[in-house]
Amino acid sequence: MAQSKPAGSNRKLWGTLIGAAVGPIDTVILDLLGVSFEINGSDASWLIALYFGFSFAVLGYLIGSLMDARDREREQMRLLGEQRDLINQTRARLAQSEKLAALGQMATMIAHEVRNPLGVMRSSAQEIRDSALDDVNTRRASSFIISETDRLNRVIESILGFARPLEPRLDEVRVADLAERAILLAAEHPRARHSRVRLERGDDPLVEADADLITQVLLDLIANALEASPRGAEVRIDLRDDGEAVIGINDSGPGVAPELRDKIFEPFYTTNVNGTGLGLAVSRQVVTSHGGTLTVADTPAPGARFEIRLPRHSAVIAA
Ligand SMILES: Nc1ncnc2c1ncn2[C@@H]1O[C@H](COP(=O)(O)OP(=O)(O)OP(=O)(O)O)[C@@H](O)[C@H]1O
Ligand SMILES: [Mg+2]
Repeated sequence: MAQSKPAGSNRKLWGTLIGAAVGPIDTVILDLLGVSFEINGSDASWLIALYFGFSFAVLGYLIGSLMDARDREREQMRLLGEQRDLINQTRARLAQSEKLAALGQMATMIAHEVRNPLGVMRSSAQEIRDSALDDVNTRRASSFIISETDRLNRVIESILGFARPLEPRLDEVRVADLAERAILLAAEHPRARHSRVRLERGDDPLVEADADLITQVLLDLIANALEASPRGAEVRIDLRDDGEAVIGINDSGPGVAPELRDKIFEPFYTTNVNGTGLGLAVSRQVVTSHGGTLTVADTPAPGARFEIRLPRHSAVIAA
């Protein structure tokens, strides 16, 4: 991005001053070269110096004006670019909030129309399984129904959770404690058997946060990192305090291509067969409700780095 002209810089003034100085210097040089000016037999060098000084000052003024105008135009282009970026961002946020409103309505409908029949299906499948003591095939089939209805229920729960307005309950918490809790919970993840999640102890900032919500965000990000990493790889969490609390979740997977760095936060975007595509969307919503940000850092592949920034003592912005 172009740098703006330093305050107080005025090329017109400098052009005029330099021009005014060059004129007399020219006269001195001509004098040294033996060129003299006379009018009616008397020395007219001072008149020539004045003439050159004035002409060069005007020239300097014009060149300075042109350079000032060019700087102003550049500054205007830069401001225009910033405005355009802002409009694009607002447009994207608007599209996102329209999507969320539609999602809220859909979630309520699903809750009414789908959850109850699912409950009936599950309890019927359980009854069938309990009564078919000797029939292995029937027991296996009913177990499938039970586990699949459970999975559907989990999906519905996530959608409902996403559509529900967030009301974080704030406490003063240490981010290292949250990270440790999330690492402990991540041990349940199937990939955790072959991989290691390591907390790199750096700063340990204190934040005002809903411990449960932020732990859930960390857990989701660790799960994503484990899913993206090759078997046996390490997921590293680092903590920093640069006025804000910064939590980095780093993996050695394929990374996130620059053109996908916004897309992956959209609801339902997923490349995982069993994923809902809501993990990152919900996580960002939670972090935003704390007045923070969740982004994927601009690092070259391989590996991705997700960064949570939380203000240390800020008013909470409603999600
Ligand atoms: N650490 C990562 N490295 C590379 N790609 C990632 C990473 N984390 C997320 N992604 C990409 O972003 C997509 C969306 O992630 P998100 O957590 O929202 O959903 P999901 O993990 O697919 O599903 P769910 O969270 O419901 O299990 C993922 O499917 C994946 O393509
Ligand atoms: Mg996920």
